[in-house]
Amino acid sequence: MKGIIAGTGVDRILADLEEITVDTDFGQVACYRRGDVVVIPRHGRGHVLAPGAINYKANAMALRVLGCERVIGIHAVGSITSRLAPGDFGLVEDFLDFSGRNLTFCDGTTLPLRHVGMVRCFDRALVTDFVKATYRTGRRDIKAGIVYATTAGPRLETPAEIRAMRNIGCDVVGMTLASEAVLLRELDIPHAAVAYSINWAAGLDEEGVSFLEDESIERLARTILSITLDALEA
Ligand code: HPA
Repeated sequence: MKGIIAGTGVDRILADLEEITVDTDFGQVACYRRGDVVVIPRHGRGHVLAPGAINYKANAMALRVLGCERVIGIHAVGSITSRLAPGDFGLVEDFLDFSGRNLTFCDGTTLPLRHVGMVRCFDRALVTDFVKATYRTGRRDIKAGIVYATTAGPRLETPAEIRAMRNIGCDVVGMTLASEAVLLRELDIPHAAVAYSINWAAGLDEEGVSFLEDESIERLARTILSITLDALEA
């Protein structure tokens, strides 16, 4: 089994897949299945959960319960640098965690105390498979080496926060990646993360923060989900 954790813009796409519910010690998880790939919409069916209300532990544990050998996360983000501009997508190489969630399985309750290493926390083979799947569509415009700053949300950042993030090396900002990357790492599930930008982050756009049109976001999300399915099924 393989897993996808998908974000903004995928609801209509998932409507065609088989719905399943997975029970975990941390709660039930709504999933969609296509063959041996299972998709978890992280914001729940109908995009109802704010980033702080997502049950990250249940989602990660559901992937383990289902026996997922590898997982790709898909994340809508805001752009801080032009290394991943609005409308672009790319592979995340590293992240910073400002979310304050500090989620862990390795605290002696679910799993024994362990300090998991976070160097090269994204799986090389999975990253390569995603790039190859992108190339198979004829696209060559995929970005790589992206550094993702994770905030708590649901509010957007202040311009000063974005300036500070840029100064310390962040390319994009979002509200979910760190929580998933840590938990999947603790479960030893190989993981890759794809980010797609839907806006310039606060203070970088003269208009204030303006998002791509819903239709463009959905088109981008659909493209990435289809590449991800192909990467995992290959
Ligand atoms: N900030 C945080 N998270 C986001 C943004 C943003 O600008 N855009 C999409 N997710």
